[in-house]
Amino acid sequence: MIVAGKGGVGKTTVAATLALVAARAGLRTLLVDVEATGALPRLFGRSEIFDYHPVTLRPGRPGTGEVTGRTLTPDDALIEYLDTHGLKRVSKRMATTGTLDLVATAIPGIKDILVLGKVKQLEQAAAAGEPGAPELIIVDAPAAGHAVTFLASAHGLLDAIGVGPIRSQASDVAALLADPARCQVLLVTLPEETPVNEVVETAFHLEDRAGVKLGPVVVNGLYPSLTLPEDVVAAAKAAGARLDPQDVAALAGAADFRRQRQSLQAAQVARLAEELPLPQLRLPHLWTTDLDERHLDQLADGLGSGISALSQQPSEVPG
Ligand SMILES: Nc1ncnc2c1ncn2[C@@H]1O[C@H](COP(=O)(O)OP(=O)(O)OP(=O)(O)O)[C@@H](O)[C@H]1O
Ligand SMILES: [Mg+2]
Repeated sequence: MIVAGKGGVGKTTVAATLALVAARAGLRTLLVDVEATGALPRLFGRSEIFDYHPVTLRPGRPGTGEVTGRTLTPDDALIEYLDTHGLKRVSKRMATTGTLDLVATAIPGIKDILVLGKVKQLEQAAAAGEPGAPELIIVDAPAAGHAVTFLASAHGLLDAIGVGPIRSQASDVAALLADPARCQVLLVTLPEETPVNEVVETAFHLEDRAGVKLGPVVVNGLYPSLTLPEDVVAAAKAAGARLDPQDVAALAGAADFRRQRQSLQAAQVARLAEELPLPQLRLPHLWTTDLDERHLDQLADGLGSGISALSQQPSEVPG
């Protein structure tokens, strides 16, 4: 499962939340970080950046799957590829001389295909039932407009390269992305004007250019819907409180703001449903500046019920 979307919309948060939902359903789940910024480990209270080797983020318990995490950068993937193809000495030198960056400039898409090629290899190990292999792999895809190039890299390379190992890697990756039984892409967005425009555009590009199967679109950061009283003074009186004029103005302003945000978000969610015929999963905005594992569990409760609701009505598409 590949979690993609614009920068800052909540990809990493959604990827981690999904991992918890999957683990609760008993699946051994691997979270793959392709950017190694430390954001994913931080959500699980880790200060270190993941290594190339999986670390346990949440141990499995009876009935619950283990959640592990690892990074998977193009450099790591290339070195491993060369090592396992009898080119250990070359790979060491490439690592120290920055050759990959040179190659990447000459062949656009090569870095992406290295990462996705490795994901494909992990998926095949899992499909083959290798002991300890994850049952679900969740990839926190790269940010900011890069999702389309990342996922279209296989097709780009297939167009450009006629034969050889890169072509066969690209064709394997294209086959993985195109097969809904093996791979789904989950787009994440925020219920705001520009992010909604962008996710609609990205969704159509991905289907056209990368041939991927899109899963539900995740709308992150929804304000829990509240009915706020228009008359702050009357509401305070009813609650047995007295407000001084300053409080009245501040509370009325806050309520106004909240009402406006809620109706703006509702309008954007409705527009998304109209413009993008995909089921929606919705995640609430949590009032914290510092999301941690407890928050992830809270989000996983909501996401889990959203997924159950969708799976009970698989053919329902909003709009
Ligand atoms: N539902 C939510 N409630 C509250 N805060 C959230 C929620 N989702 C995400 N955030 C916060 O918003 C910020 C961006 O989230 P996140 O890092 O998951 O986005 P991203 O799409 O992975 O960003 P990037 O493109 O930088 O990788 C983070 O500070 C995160 O804690
Ligand atoms: Mg992120």
